[in-house]
Parts: sequence; structure tokens; C-alpha cells
Amino acid sequence: MTVTSKALYIHTIGCQMNVYDSEQIAARLSAMGYEQVSGPDTADLIILNTCTIRAKAEQKVYSFLGRLARLKAVRSDMIIGVGGCVAQQDGKKMLKRLPFVDIIFGTKAIDRLPAIIRTIESKQGPVVDIDLEDTQPSADFYEHHEQQTAVSGFVTVMRGCDNFCSYCVVPYVRGREISREPQKIIKEIKHLVDTGVKEVTLLGQNVNSYGKKQGLCSFADLLSRINNIEGLLRIRFTTSHPKDLDSDLVQCFGHLEKLCRHIHLPVQSGSNAVLKKMNRKYTRELYLDKVAKLRDTCPDIALTSDIIVGFPGETAADYEKTLGLISQVEFDGLFAFQYSDRPNARSVEFPDKISEVEKKDRLQRLLAMQEAITKKKNQALVGSVQTILVDGLSKKEIADRPQVELLPEQWTGRTTTNKIVNFDCEHNCDGRAAIYPGRLLDVRIEKAYFHSLQGKPVTVETTAGDAKGANSYAA
Ligand code: 5AD
Ligand code: SF4
Repeated sequence: MTVTSKALYIHTIGCQMNVYDSEQIAARLSAMGYEQVSGPDTADLIILNTCTIRAKAEQKVYSFLGRLARLKAVRSDMIIGVGGCVAQQDGKKMLKRLPFVDIIFGTKAIDRLPAIIRTIESKQGPVVDIDLEDTQPSADFYEHHEQQTAVSGFVTVMRGCDNFCSYCVVPYVRGREISREPQKIIKEIKHLVDTGVKEVTLLGQNVNSYGKKQGLCSFADLLSRINNIEGLLRIRFTTSHPKDLDSDLVQCFGHLEKLCRHIHLPVQSGSNAVLKKMNRKYTRELYLDKVAKLRDTCPDIALTSDIIVGFPGETAADYEKTLGLISQVEFDGLFAFQYSDRPNARSVEFPDKISEVEKKDRLQRLLAMQEAITKKKNQALVGSVQTILVDGLSKKEIADRPQVELLPEQWTGRTTTNKIVNFDCEHNCDGRAAIYPGRLLDVRIEKAYFHSLQGKPVTVETTAGDAKGANSYAA
């Protein structure tokens, strides 16, 4: 059967899970003859993959939809589909508000998308599909990847969440927690490795509870099995819930040589009173104890975290406790957010909401404090040699650099601790041919910034072997 090619534009807002879902959408639509283009103007089909975790993300979605409305006004033949968490949350309501949209599909409808699109193509639309039931084992549709050229790939190991943190919309838009079977995950990773991927990031809302509910293997066991995959150099995962971080997983940082020395461990608040209202099910003391265990097992592990400021009822003293925790732990990086009410979240009903002005002030003070810590930590790496996995050429604009006849190429990679390292490969560098995406490279750090480090390759072997690099990279 010949399929004529049609143009597809996918716009993704939100987390890595959405990026992964967008890859899955692209793979399914490519089988229908849709080829991805880089902008919406010439597309026959536009898919907007949405996020609703915080109010700001949702605003972004609706402002992009405003742009699509103007486009559809002049190109009435184009198909517009909205998927992901906002679609799941607003469903039919969205169609009323945005009559130019053809498809609203929820977080569990990706499998059904090709059939839905055929319905629209035959002018029978619009379609709303926001079924959240696990009636079909759709936990396993994630096997299709577009031809990968990237060094790094995402693999979903579990989805949904049963934790119901009081501020969070995720359990309502992603449904109940469900883990994929280990053999399917391993098969998918092997496939990625065959296509050139060297690093995988395992995704899930709470990877630490992987497998527990269904009686599959533990997350620590899953990591050990993935560690044995030949050709894979690095493993990362996100996100961890502190209450489920057990000692088996902590130990993995001590003995799995491919597991990167970084953990994202959202603390949300340093105040026990706030943690209780958030329904986080751990205390500040328990969190600090887990941090100490991680650092005992793996002294140079990088720690990052999420913080919410201005949770309803957060007093000045609660906020000070959060600042105190930040200065005690000294995270390598922080993502901090102003609290916002989300649909269905229990905290919507909580009294003593904090004003926008106060939330903004708390956020700025916290970020300023963290900036000093991050800079200090990055500065401490100057002079050290770090092994990085080369990602490719850096996106950094060279336009503002002095115009010399031959500009050195700016490359980029990441340390095991997830710090970005940019480095030049001079044109007169003998080993230039040996720098390529996907190799491990030792780089001496020369300069530290807030978001990145600048370095110089230590030795560049023309016959560089990744296997050799992999061994020397062991923790
Ligand atoms: N308001 C502000 N931040 C939130 N997050 C989740 N829900 C909210 C909310 N209602 C933050 C948490 C979470 C991160 C992904 O987003 O810090 O870890
Ligand atoms: Fe939301 Fe809490 Fe689940 Fe994370 S663990 S997705 S914050 S409910």
C-alpha cells in the first residue's frame, strides 16, 4: 500500500513524560504517512501535547491554542488535536471553548489516535477521547521509537500516581499507578541501544514504587538488570518520592557502575507542618536521613530537588525552615515554584492562601540563595577532570564570539552528576575526528557558570573506544 506523505507538527509542553509521549505519537502517525515538520504553518495535522501541573503551564497551553485559532482561520483544512493533561482535565469543556479543535485526546488515548485521525480525515469529527480506565493493557504501547539519532533516550517504566499529594493534579489526569513489565522495558532499551542510544532516563511519576503494586521486581532489581545491557553506558531515572526511597535503591548508587551519580529527590518543603498538609508522608528529619545515606554510599552524588513556596498556611517560620534545609543540604540545583491551585487538588479548599506578592518574594529569595550554592558547587569543580558523555555540538550562538578565521567548534556533554560541560575542539586539534556524540570523554574543567561548566578535553585518542570509556567511568 502506498501512503502519501502529510505534514505533522507536534508541540510539546511539560515534563519528560510528555516528550516521551510525543515520540510515541510521532511513531504511530508516521505509520499513517505523517512526516514531522519544524513549524505549524505548513502542517496538515498539528498535535499539541499539554501540561497542567501548575497554573503557568496551563496558561501556556491556552496561549498557544490562540495562535492555532488564527492559523486555522486561514487554513480550515488542517486538523488540530490537543492531547495530554489539559485535554484529560478539560475534555469536552475545551471543545466548547475552542470550537476550531478537531480532537481532544487524554493521557491514555495515544494508542487510539490513528483511528481517531481517520475519523477526522473522513470528516466525521470532532472527537473527544479521555477514557482513563485501564481496560486494555495499554501500559505496553511504548515500543515504537522513531529512528533515533540521539545519544540519550527516555523510557517510561511506570505511569500514573497513587500518592495524592494535596496540591497535585497528576493522579486525576494520569490515573492510577501502573508499572510495565521488566522484560518489556529491557526489550525497549535494547532496541534503543541498537539505534545508537548510550544513555537512558527511566521515567515515572514515582519510580521508587515501581513494581510494588503488581508484584513485579523492585526498582533496584530493575536497575541491576538494565545495568547488564551491553552497549548502554549510562542510566538515569526520575522522579523519586523520598518516602519510597529504600536502602536497596540507595545501595545501587554504590555498586551499579552505569547508574549516574545524580538523584532528583523533591522535598517540597522543609517544614513538617507543611509536609503534613501536603500529604507527603515523610518528615524533614526522614528526608535528611535519606540524604545522609545517599551521601554515605556515594559521597559525590549530585542532589536536585523541587520546592513549592507559598503553600496555603505556610508561615514565615515554615518558609525559614525550608531555607534552612536548603542551606543544610546544599542541593546542586533546585526547581522552585509558587504554589497554584489545581483542579481537584485538595489544597484548593485549604484556608490562609498566600498572596501572589508574598509568594513571588519568597520564591525570589529562595532562588537567590540557591544560585549562590549552585555557583559555589560548580566553582569547586574547576581544575578537576570529569568524564562526560558527549551529546553533540552545543546550541550556543557563536555570533557573539570574536570573529577569527576559524572558529573552534563548541561541543557539549554532561557529567555523571548531570552538569552540562561545554568544550571547544580546536581546528588544529589532532584528535578532532575522535570527538563524536555518544563517546565518553575526559575533560578538565576550566570555568564554572551557573548553568554550565567550560572545559578542555584531556586526551583525545583517535581510536577512542566507548567500551574503554565505559569501564573507566565506573563509580
Ligand atoms: N503548585 C505549585 N507547584 C506544584 N508542583 C506540583 N503541583 C504544584 C502546584 N499546585 C510542583 C512540585 C512538583 C513539580 C513537578 O511541580 O514541586 O514536584
Ligand atoms: Fe503529584 Fe505527589 Fe504523585 Fe508526585 S507523588 S505526581 S507530587 S501526587
